[in-house]
Amino acid sequence: MRYMLIEAVTSGMIIGKDIYDANDSILLCQGKRLSELNVTRLRELGYAGIYIQDNLTRDIRIDDILSPEIRSEACQSIRNFDLDEAKKVAEAIVERILSAESVSIDMVDLKTFDSYTYQHSVNVAVLATIVGMGMGFSADKLKELCIAGMFHDMGKLEVPAEILNKPSKLTTEEYDIIKKHPQKSYDLLADRFELSSNVRMGVLCHHENEDGSGYPRGLTGDKINIFAKILHVVDVYDALTSKRSYKKAYACSEALEYLMGGTATLFDEKVVDVFMKYVPIYPKGMQVLLSDGRKGVIVRNNHISSLRPVVRMVDGLDIDLTDMHRYSTLTIVCQANEDTATPEEIAQAEQERWQIQGH
Ligand SMILES: [Fe+2]
Repeated sequence: MRYMLIEAVTSGMIIGKDIYDANDSILLCQGKRLSELNVTRLRELGYAGIYIQDNLTRDIRIDDILSPEIRSEACQSIRNFDLDEAKKVAEAIVERILSAESVSIDMVDLKTFDSYTYQHSVNVAVLATIVGMGMGFSADKLKELCIAGMFHDMGKLEVPAEILNKPSKLTTEEYDIIKKHPQKSYDLLADRFELSSNVRMGVLCHHENEDGSGYPRGLTGDKINIFAKILHVVDVYDALTSKRSYKKAYACSEALEYLMGGTATLFDEKVVDVFMKYVPIYPKGMQVLLSDGRKGVIVRNNHISSLRPVVRMVDGLDIDLTDMHRYSTLTIVCQANEDTATPEEIAQAEQERWQIQGH
């Protein structure tokens, strides 16, 4: 299967992975052929993209780290603010991650605008747990980190939706309201004495920057709790790769470039390093544009270089970009949607990439 941005999805295409609605019920099943009405509805609901099954990419399998059941239970426990249930879910997530043969975050999460806060919180919990594992945390510490991820944005539920989803630039007053959400999340957990100070400080400080430019306290480097540093990195990554009412979804490669660009000023260097080991720059099933104008789909990543995966071309030929004898001048320019690109499109993509790097 392959991942397609919603703009390129058309009727007649076959769904590669079940699509869930904001209430965690299946909206459209894997194997169903999309109607015109389905496509319009998916766009209205705010999906950034979906997985499509076709003959060219039939053998490319993309698995979510979490089963749909655990993902749904996690969403429910956040929605109900049920800490006891969240602890059970965190245990299941940690067990799943620690027992996986290899952990690679290939699956792009399919979020709607409505389900954003809950799905985002589950993603942050999972990504943070993976980073914690990479940093050698004990299972108990990973469970705490996972819980901190699940509840880090609870305070956002008190921010009016018209501010959270405002498509235009926020006023200073509106931004001040948003900046209060970490403290509100912290306050909501205040009387749960069984939670460690790591969980509390992780939630409170997940928008602090290394250089002191963050909020709510403007803490710098070594004053910021390690849980908060991890939540900060994975929170920004998941937010960038999600489509929101005020922004497009960034490609994984663009989001990773942003994290690297913010190392030491916004983000902790070690945390970004560990995170990069688990997130492929070009996930499996992603469509990419090559520097010669052709487009292809990522078949698998190479251990030698995450920048040079195996790419399947539209004629079915697999190109291994680590084969430097044949493909030394060929590079991946960006994530792409159709099967061909004009020189203008390539120039435009390279310019956008530069702008993000320079941002
Ligand atoms: Fe937040």
